[in-house]
Amino acid sequence: MRSTSTIPRHAAIIMDGNGRWAAARGLPRSAGHKAGIDALRAAVRAAADFGIEYLTIYSFSTENWSRPKTEVMFLLELLRRFIRQDVAELHASGVRIHVIGDREGLDRSIVTMLEDAEKLTRDNTKLNLVVAFNYGSRQEITRAARAMAADVASGKIALADVTPEALDGQLDTAGMPPPDLLIRTGGEQRISNFLLWQCAYAEFVFVPEFWPDFTADIFARAIAEYASRERRFGGLKAQSA
Ligand code: IPE
Ligand code: IPE
Ligand code: MG
Repeated sequence: MRSTSTIPRHAAIIMDGNGRWAAARGLPRSAGHKAGIDALRAAVRAAADFGIEYLTIYSFSTENWSRPKTEVMFLLELLRRFIRQDVAELHASGVRIHVIGDREGLDRSIVTMLEDAEKLTRDNTKLNLVVAFNYGSRQEITRAARAMAADVASGKIALADVTPEALDGQLDTAGMPPPDLLIRTGGEQRISNFLLWQCAYAEFVFVPEFWPDFTADIFARAIAEYASRERRFGGLKAQSA
């Protein structure tokens, strides 16, 4: 049941810990990434069941290119396979897919695949699944600033038109509500260049479990933690107003 006070409208997840999950089992890191796909499927189903409107997942960062080539290739192939295998089912269950991140310099076939998934699912309304792929928040903000600077330089807009709202509208996430809840699995307590602008007032929940061990129950616990927080947005407690 959807209740606006307890269920985040937008949850974002840093799916971290695949490599450590695998290492703990004496398996190659790739096995952890593969197991992470099953956790992702479960998280998407759970998000839809909870009545979350937007689920954003960090699948590959701009900094992840610095990993060994074999791991990068494996991750790209895994994304391809996920889209190929899951898009029909996601579509059937009413999931709308969005992709954020830099598409410049990516293999054309991946970009086409992602764009086709966005097009196919564009009228779905059950859940918005936002896939952050080749995503880096500082780069996204820089792209937005550059677009606005170009508009000022060409006279399309005035300097005074450069506002937080206008910049927000130039981000890859334009038109989406900001995350209410940010979950990071794997125990690290950092943001790793994810949604820096958008998370200005998000509630952060860090969970120790590695991403392949993430379940609907862990998700529900993170939401309960979120629901227990008092969000003030710089103001005062409701009762002291
Ligand atoms: C998250 O797991 C997946 C990606 C970054 C693509 P990691 O691969 O970062 O796993 P750990 O953090 O090394 O355990
Ligand atoms: C963040 O995890 C990126 C993704 C989950 C896709 P990383 O494993 O890349 O982050 P760091 O290196 O621990 O900060
Ligand atoms: Mg990691």
